[in-house]
This record gives sequence, C-alpha cells and structure tokens, in this order.
Amino acid sequence: MAPDGQALAPNVYDAEPIPAAAMAEIERLLSTGDLFRYTAAEGAPVALLEQEFADLMGVRYALAVSSCSAALFLSLKALDLPRGAKVLIPAFTFAAVPSAIVHADCLPVLVEVNDNYRVDMADFVAKLDGADAVMISHMRGHTSDMDSIMALCDARNIPVIEDAAHSLGTEWHGRKIGTIGKVGCFSFQSYKLVNAGEGGILITDDPELAARAVIMSGAYETNWKKHPGMQNSYMLWQNKLPLYNMRMQNLSAAVIRPQLPEVAGRVAKGRAGHDRVADQLEQSPFLTVPAALPPEERAPDSIQFNLAGNWTDAEARDFQAQAKRLGIAVQVFGLSDGNARAFWNWEFLGPAPDLPKTRAMLMRACDVRLPTRLTEAELDYIAQAIVDAAATVKS
Ligand SMILES: Cc1ncc(COP(=O)(O)O)c(C=O)c1O
Repeated sequence: MAPDGQALAPNVYDAEPIPAAAMAEIERLLSTGDLFRYTAAEGAPVALLEQEFADLMGVRYALAVSSCSAALFLSLKALDLPRGAKVLIPAFTFAAVPSAIVHADCLPVLVEVNDNYRVDMADFVAKLDGADAVMISHMRGHTSDMDSIMALCDARNIPVIEDAAHSLGTEWHGRKIGTIGKVGCFSFQSYKLVNAGEGGILITDDPELAARAVIMSGAYETNWKKHPGMQNSYMLWQNKLPLYNMRMQNLSAAVIRPQLPEVAGRVAKGRAGHDRVADQLEQSPFLTVPAALPPEERAPDSIQFNLAGNWTDAEARDFQAQAKRLGIAVQVFGLSDGNARAFWNWEFLGPAPDLPKTRAMLMRACDVRLPTRLTEAELDYIAQAIVDAAATVKS
C-alpha cells in the first residue's frame, strides 16, 4: 500500500454527533439555569435518566454520578468494607480501577489475566480466600468466566462489583453485564458507547446498598426524597454517612438520555464491525483474535488481537510503525511508556507484583478503536492495514 495511506485512513477518534433531541433540552436548561439535579421538585433530567437506565437494564435502582470511577468508589463505600479490605481485580484494567480502591481505603489484589484478556481462574481461586470483595473489570468488554466467579464468591459470601465501563450492551447467557454481581458500574466518558464527555452510573437491586450510595453521592439533608422508594433506609442513613459529592449534573443527563434508545443499534453495529475486522485479521498467520467465552455476546467498539507466534519487542514496535505509516494507530498495551493499562505503571500501589502471564499478554496484545459509526469500507481499510503491517515485518 502506498505511504500516502494516512490520507485514506478513517478517523477513529472523533465522536458521533449527539442526537439532535438533546439540543432543545440543553437550551431549556441553559435558559433557566436549572443545572443542579436536586433543584427541581421532580422530573429533573438526572432523575429521569436514572429511571430510564434502570428500566433499560432491568434493575431496581440506578444512581447517576460524575464518573465510573466515582461509581466504583461509592460501591466499595456502600458495601461498608473495613479500612484495608482486600479487593481482587484483574491485573488487566485501567489505572482508574485500582485508584478507586485506594481512594476507598482498600487494598487492590491483582489477579493474573490470560492471553484471551480474561481472568485466570486458577490464580483467582488461589487469591480468593482472604478477599473482602471482588471487582471484575470487563476490560475492553471481555467477559471473564462469570459463572465460576459468582459460584466461588457466593459460596464465600464475597460481594462482586462489576466494572462494566466497556460493557454496556454485552450479555452473558442472555443476562446483561452489570446485573450479575451485587453492583454494576458504567462510564459515559467520551470513549465509551454512550458519550457525555464524563459521567457514570451505578446499578443494583439491593435497597440498602442503593440508599447508602445515594446519600454518599451527595444527597444531603432530605434530597434522598427525590430518589424513588426506600424511605426507611434513607432515614436510617441520613447524617450517618459522609457526603462525597459525586453527583451528576443535569446537562450531562440531557446529553445521555437521547443516546439510550440508540444503544441497541450501536451494539449491533459494533458487533458486526468487530467481527468483520476479526475475520480478516484471522486470515493472517501473524495475528490472532482470541475468541469470547461461549456464553458471551459482545458489544465492542474496539478490537484486541495478539501478535501470534514469536515476535521480538523490536518487531512489535516496527509493526506499530508500519501500521502508523498506513494511518492506523495500534496500541500495544505493554510497549508504550507509562501506559495506564499496564499494571507495572501503577506505581502508586508500590512495587509491581510478579504476574508473568498478564505481563506476557500485555507485551503482545494490540488495541485498535472501532467506533460503531465506521462504514464497511472503513473497517476493511483498517483490517487490511493491520494485516499488511504484520506481513511487512514478518515476511
Ligand atoms: C475498564 C475501566 N474501568 C473504569 C474506568 C473509569 O471510567 P471513568 O473515566 O468514567 O471514571 C475506565 C476509564 O476509561 C476504564 O477503562
């Protein structure tokens, strides 16, 4: 392919336009100045979003907050874990996840991840005794063996929090990811399926947990009355819990609400686009796309694949350079300096643990964004560029 490929390459970073329906509501909010979720007596955009998201997911309670990190933090606080409680997480996740655990005065315990990006169950079992909670990051939407994880945790009465930041629309045995554990947390940061710039939401069926999270999110005095149900629980907790003020504001909800009816369509497009690119990458002897576990129906807006066989670091870097020459940015998680998804860069945790499987995976696992708006021609361009880049290095 000609070196002018950069000009032909699709832009995978620009976001989709926000549905036009958001504009009128934003104008109304701006003209009235009604930006705070608790000003209106009822029907505030944030409260409507919570109801709509709970309905979409089929759960009893949803709490919209400032980010998924805030949702993860509030989940841990709402579980009332003691200071220093051990929280198991997959070692392949974004730095915000162990950070939320540290923020909640708990201790992250990193579990090995296999080269299919999913939790290594032998290491999980080995580390489970002594754990106070489990936070499963479905990193890049890859679902670990939730049947085994839930059976093991239920048997020990260990609560499971699902970090579903990348998993809106993903299903496991037909069940929505985020509804399997005790709490599910989602992100509306711009690189996610629903884009509000920033934002997050926590879902649960547990009334006590919901009440505690609502109050700690910043429902001061009797603002909990603007959340449906659970009056007794709220009264129990009012003034007994700190207020961390992690509320969502109305403008964010106005941006998110018109995108919710588009989720199903984006999921279908994302899945089709991912599979189209995956099929082409699988044709290359130098690349492999790990399969999902059978119960999983994915909702991807990016693709991950591994450099197959023996690649040196120099070859992997050359592969990135060749792809870049064709206009495609390929992230190899472990190869870029300070990558926030490489556990050895989480220096705030102290010395990095020895996790050889995860380390080996991160050194050869590649990541390319595939926003659901891409056309088939654009997807084919990306796939061909990746295949060509690998062939240039290895042939
Ligand atoms: C796997 C994962 N979990 C949690 C988060 C935190 O999301 P937020 O940016 O909404 O705090 C991110 C952020 O990208 C993430 O990648």
